[in-house]
Amino acid sequence: MHKDVHKDDGIIVVQNVTKQYSGRTVLDNVSLAVEPGKTTVIIGKSGCGKTVMMKHMIVLERPTEGQVFFKGQRIDHQHERDLAEVRRHYGFCFQMGALFDSLTVYENITFPIQQKQKITDWNKMDELVKQKLAMVGMDGFQFYFPASLSGGQQKRVALARAIALNPEVILYDEPTTGLDPVRSDIINELILKLQEALKVTSVVVTHDMKSAYKIADRIVMFHEGRILADGDADYIRNHPNPIVQEFINGQVSESELAPIRMGGTRFETQFHPEDFKPSNPKKQGQATGS
Ligand SMILES: Nc1ncnc2c1ncn2[C@@H]1O[C@H](COP(=O)(O)OP(=O)(O)OP(=O)(O)O)[C@@H](O)[C@H]1O
Ligand SMILES: [Mg+2]
Repeated sequence: MHKDVHKDDGIIVVQNVTKQYSGRTVLDNVSLAVEPGKTTVIIGKSGCGKTVMMKHMIVLERPTEGQVFFKGQRIDHQHERDLAEVRRHYGFCFQMGALFDSLTVYENITFPIQQKQKITDWNKMDELVKQKLAMVGMDGFQFYFPASLSGGQQKRVALARAIALNPEVILYDEPTTGLDPVRSDIINELILKLQEALKVTSVVVTHDMKSAYKIADRIVMFHEGRILADGDADYIRNHPNPIVQEFINGQVSESELAPIRMGGTRFETQFHPEDFKPSNPKKQGQATGS
């Protein structure tokens, strides 16, 4: 499935982007225009290129071919120095390493602000942190370290940080992964609330279909580096393509099961439980070389 997009078709426009790593194609001529003020959800199997796609939207990765635009301005070839200005308009919650472990919640939120502007009025900053934490239900946790927060609380703090500078666009990579259904739903509600309160444009990468249906104005499914389906929740739910149906229903296809089934018999012939016991003198001898 391929649609032509123009640089002014959305707030972020990815136009005919191909990304290769060491000659391996991860994004294959992808075009996507992100509509302002809407929530676009990107779904697809692990490894299909969702995070790479999102990184292109903020030029943390640069395309091998193709172009990326923010508000009609080409950004993919900009110098890092100029990108800092573009990135001021973005908030992002990435998949890995959301918070700085050695900084308190308060410092985690003010750190990126300090990077961008000199803070002179700390009372005002206290107020801002309080207000952002309140939006995610975390006011009062200012002087906690991330290690003493649950996974869901950490994600909420990461969200508060992402919205600290009133971004126009928020990019979320797997905001609900690793959370129980109740915590996931709190994050979903927050994304919806931020959307309504701040009128932001959101792009959310997720595996979680419940979350996707709840928050999406539009769902874009990637498959092997290309866009396979693109439409609203009902369109995706009723999509005739079996790959889409297998994904949204959490089914595994026969072609994916085949190598696992074949491998299953090999596991049995290759390993025995005693292979993993240090008391096995033969293995121990081999390991230490004595
Ligand atoms: N910096 C990199 N160098 C080389 N290969 C990379 C790099 N970043 C990503 N890839 C490869 O690109 C492919 C797509 O990665 P990506 O992280 O976008 O997957 P994803 O769809 O986000 O998967 P997941 O759902 O597991 O997060 C993977 O095969 C990955 O190994
Ligand atoms: Mg990813």
